[in-house]
Amino acid sequence: MNNILVLTSGGDAPGMNAAIRAVVRTGHYYGLKVFGSPSGYQGLVDQSLIPLEPESVANCIQQGGTILKADRCLAFYEKATRDQCRAFLSQQQIGGIVVIGGNGSFAGAALLSEEGGPPVVGVPGTIDNDIAGTDYTIGFDTARNTALQAIDKIRDTASSHNRHFLVEVMGRNSGFLAVDVGIAGGAEFILIPEFEIPISTLAEKVLRPRRRKLSSIIVVAEADHPGRSIKIAEALQQHTQLKYRVCILGHTQRGGSPTTQDRKIASQMGYMAVRALRDNQSHKMIAMCGNELCILPFPAADTPPRVVTDQDLLELNDVLCT
Ligand code: F6P
Repeated sequence: MNNILVLTSGGDAPGMNAAIRAVVRTGHYYGLKVFGSPSGYQGLVDQSLIPLEPESVANCIQQGGTILKADRCLAFYEKATRDQCRAFLSQQQIGGIVVIGGNGSFAGAALLSEEGGPPVVGVPGTIDNDIAGTDYTIGFDTARNTALQAIDKIRDTASSHNRHFLVEVMGRNSGFLAVDVGIAGGAEFILIPEFEIPISTLAEKVLRPRRRKLSSIIVVAEADHPGRSIKIAEALQQHTQLKYRVCILGHTQRGGSPTTQDRKIASQMGYMAVRALRDNQSHKMIAMCGNELCILPFPAADTPPRVVTDQDLLELNDVLCT
């Protein structure tokens, strides 16, 4: 294996640049030529690889987003497209690929390697923290800190004006972001898709006499319907007669300079991914297992995204918000 390829696919996540940097520099350390595929799998479809030298990744570790750009490449779901990409990779003598991305990106990588493409190793990168098999994905820590800062700011206004807010965070159908920022931000309630409660129950909790609050923040996970907090606010207002303002944090959570944790873990994972390729591993991902980094097979194609299964933190919040 003389040539390796790195790409970032799916939604961008803070820390992806640290992972790219680690792949490029580790590759060069071991005497490999490293190429990047711009905009994820789209670069393979367009047959446009870019050579990456150690200096190509200078001064990117602190930048959010991805210097390689990212995309959700629908064409790559077609077998015919993947066949063309595989032929192109063989022509370019690419002996291994590091895919940095989320569930969809790993599914594409797994198909490519199963169909006879070069060995592929995945580095989990998504703010959702929802890849089955790993307890951590790059970008999650930065995103939760970004969301937390926003909640702290909204709290100032909520408290100054005696207002009630719903703050919606990203995460698709996984409530990890919502749970963490809800607890850390002192949210009065946390609504996540894994443990939905009826509006009437939520209204009862809001109005419970233990401590009637003059201001409050409810953190809502976007679930499968970004913007759903607007409808929830209307329904809650009907049940409680309290006016709820809505703040959807949206893509603000995806950008920004990565935290120490994201830069460090991304650097470790990128390094390990190249080492794994050198050890002839394929169809694997670097994963966080408890507090240790390990190498695991890609999740099977039909494995659902990781979700919150434990209600303990929600119960804790229920106690603390009284
Ligand atoms: O998967 C990351 C994520 O930011 C989700 O939390 C969100 O639902 C989705 O991507 C938004 O995707 P897009 O940027 O394509 O609108």
